[in-house]
Amino acid sequence: MEHLQTQGISLPRLGLGTFRLQGDACRAAVESALALGYRHIDTAEMYGNEDAIGAAIAASDVARKDLHVTTKVWHENLAPDAIRRAFDASLKKLRLDHVDLYLVHWPAPNMNLPAMFEVLMRLKEQGRTRAIGVANFNIALLKTVVEEIKAPIACNQVEYHVMLDQTPLRKYLSSKAIPLVAYCPLAQGRAASDATLAAIGRKHGASAAQVALKWLLDQDGVAAIPKASRAESQRANLGALNVGLDDEDRQAIAALPKDRRCVNPGLAWD
Ligand SMILES: NC(=O)c1ccc[n+]([C@@H]2O[C@H](COP(=O)([O-])OP(=O)(O)OC[C@H]3O[C@@H](n4cnc5c(N)ncnc54)[C@H](OP(=O)(O)O)[C@@H]3O)[C@@H](O)[C@H]2O)c1
Repeated sequence: MEHLQTQGISLPRLGLGTFRLQGDACRAAVESALALGYRHIDTAEMYGNEDAIGAAIAASDVARKDLHVTTKVWHENLAPDAIRRAFDASLKKLRLDHVDLYLVHWPAPNMNLPAMFEVLMRLKEQGRTRAIGVANFNIALLKTVVEEIKAPIACNQVEYHVMLDQTPLRKYLSSKAIPLVAYCPLAQGRAASDATLAAIGRKHGASAAQVALKWLLDQDGVAAIPKASRAESQRANLGALNVGLDDEDRQAIAALPKDRRCVNPGLAWD
């Protein structure tokens, strides 16, 4: 598995998304992914599945040092005391003594960025999270965090896939050597049934979903966290790393519509 080096952590470029996975089904999906070789699991307090993920990690024989776990604090919990409480609760549910990456899940209208990042940086200094980062932050918010507060941001996790342009954000992130972690990398499954991607896949003995993922992973500084509950899909998504796309494929993908946003982060982008 290829990794991205960022703020002292080594982030596996393909991870397992877990939004909407719950209870035993979540536990089974994470156990399956770990057995197949996934070493990057993405969760959040908002997903309500950290306890199931904790159970799956506890049952696996993957060494903690080989596993990357991201979790996130929800926008209702961005006051300093609320962050600390949310973090403690997440760690307890995950049955871990530290996470690898702790993200602000979503910006809030009344958030106090300096106060938030003071708490997050303290959690990092204490070794309770190895790195901190953000999700759904636009360029203006990132500039405040990176250039004014000078917080050591290890990633911005945003929606990014073959049907959504993120060129300005990518340019800003790469100018600061900050990875972009692509959520909804399959456009919530729509990419798997796209005719253009399927035709490209036929050329290479690959599926449309694998083409969509490889297009992301061919880009410098980009990681992807597809969610897949079925072992066959999890295996296929790992196999995307072996697909080779050519210039003709990239041109066909460039011609797809690029305005198909699945998630609307509202004020983050206004
Ligand atoms: N930070 C944020 O605000 C934010 C927002 C959204 C998502 N996320 C994270 O990003 C992760 C991924 O996003 P997402 O779950 O919304 O969408 P996604 O990963 O783009 O798509 C998931 C859908 O694709 C299907 N799928 C997966 N692999 C496939 C394959 N090889 N062939 C065909 N279909 C396949 C899944 O099916 P099955 O489920 O049936 O296997 C599921 O229906 C989330 O789970 C979450 O961890 C973060």
